[in-house]
Parts: sequence; C-alpha cells; structure tokens
Amino acid sequence: AVDARAKAAEMQSLEALEALLRDFEGCGLRFTAKNLVFADGNPEARVMFVGEAPGADEDRVGKPFMGRSGQLLDRMMAAIGLDRTSAYIANIVPWRPPGNRNPTPQEVAICRPFIERQIALANPEILVCLGAPSTQTLTGTKEGILRARGRFFPYTLPDGREIRALATLHPAYLLRQPVQKRLAWRDFRALRAALDATT
Ligand code: URA
Repeated sequence: AVDARAKAAEMQSLEALEALLRDFEGCGLRFTAKNLVFADGNPEARVMFVGEAPGADEDRVGKPFMGRSGQLLDRMMAAIGLDRTSAYIANIVPWRPPGNRNPTPQEVAICRPFIERQIALANPEILVCLGAPSTQTLTGTKEGILRARGRFFPYTLPDGREIRALATLHPAYLLRQPVQKRLAWRDFRALRAALDATT
C-alpha cells in the first residue's frame, strides 16, 4: 500500500496514472476484470463524480457508468445542465469485482491512493461522491449515506487546497428506490447552485 501511494504520487498526468494502473498488479481485481475502467468525461471539468466500482457493462466498455446506473446519472446530470463534456467521472475502484460483488475494504484501501491521485490531477472545483463507499472513502465520514447526503464535506488536495465534496445517493440505489430520487434532486440542485455561485 505504501508502494502504491508512493508510485501514484510520482505520476504527473492522468495519462501516466492510467498507464501505471494498467500495469499495476497489486490488486487482485485486475486479474478477473476484462478492462481497466479509469475514467470518462472531461478531465478539465469543474465537477468530478466518483462512484463505487464498475459493473459488467463498464468492464466490457472500459468506461464508468455505461449501464442502467450510467443512463440515470446522465439524466440527473442533464437536469442541471451537465453532460460528459462538462463533467469528469471515475470510481473508487477501477476494476469490476467478480459477479458485481461489493469491493472489499482491502480492495478499496489498495485502490485509494490511485483515486486520490486522480482527483488531485483532475483538480475539480467540486467532487460528487455517489453512494456510501465513495462518500466514506473520500470524506472519511462513517455516517450512512442517508445522513451524509446533501452535505458538502471539505476535501483537502495534496497541495493543501481545500475543495468541497458533495455526498449524494448512488444512481443504482435510486433505480431500486425511485421514491428517493427527490432527495438526489435536492442534492443536484445544491450542486448546480454551488457551481453557479463560483463561475
Ligand atoms: N456503478 C458504479 O459505482 N460505477 C460504475 O461505473 C457503474 C455502476
């Protein structure tokens, strides 16, 4: 893990980080996944969404949020004027866990230096954590997502600058619990307002 963090910190571009991950053999998930799922969207964007882990569709395509969750995420982004040219999208774990099981705490811990470096290199103004694993991994909160959602947590970049990390519900959860979409809608309006307040 020390090794992964030191190596990740040496990478000076997203391309270099992606290449490092392509060769990284320290996470068992890479041996069962078809593809590395590094990112989609625009790395220059002001906002970066971070999900949990790729599923079957993402594993096949090699890009995050390609399946039903991705279609819902696209609609939620569109509702506040965002799309994949104006947002950057990644996951806390860049390989599909077999059979779509949840990534283990150990797998998340192994991959954490990489997503943290990816965030630092993309340098967004606002981070959006989709669901509990992303929120807990990136903000350090131990609260459940229904408590944490709607809040902007401080997120400190390696250079010491603080950005904001908005916790919200994961689109896969919203597909199972559509009644909760009104909560996500509140969060996305808050995201829109935060973006508008700093243009
Ligand atoms: N769910 C996620 O968390 N990430 C994806 O890329 C797809 C589904």
